[in-house]
Amino acid sequence: MKLSVFRPILCLAALLFFAAIPVSPAADEKAPVAAAGASDFNAKNTFRNICSFCHEDYGRKAGKGPQLMNNTNSDEYLFNRIKNGKAGRMAAFGGAFTDDQIRDMVKFIRSLRPDQEP
Ligand code: HEC
Repeated sequence: MKLSVFRPILCLAALLFFAAIPVSPAADEKAPVAAAGASDFNAKNTFRNICSFCHEDYGRKAGKGPQLMNNTNSDEYLFNRIKNGKAGRMAAFGGAFTDDQIRDMVKFIRSLRPDQEP
């Protein structure tokens, strides 16, 4: 009997809890990446959201990962590193992105300039 007094409050609390989940920023940011096809893929935004954590300033500066701007390795090397990762150092992104999307990211890396905001 006493519980019935709290039931509306419990329901409200549960509602607020579940209502809060879809508006969390992490969920918002990930959805477009997963849904995007190669055509509406935005390499710059993807890079900022996912890679900048380790490759700072869009890869223009070294961070936890090396600087990517002016990288002397071949396009193929960069492609393979993004696709297959490196055990213990960088995750493999081949499961998250198509080959075309990874090529777009390599192109983005090649377009980086020291004196120009990407
Ligand atoms: C957890 C940190 C981390 C994240 C996140 C990360 N990387 Fe890396 N990345 C590294 C490290 C560390 C290396 C150096 C690996 C090695 O020893 O070869 C690296 C290497 C690379 C290289 C090769 C550079 C070179 O000269 O060896 C490329 C290209 C690259 N990352 C691109 C990306 C892209 C694109 C993303 C996002 C999709 C990304 N990385 C996300 C840590 C990260």
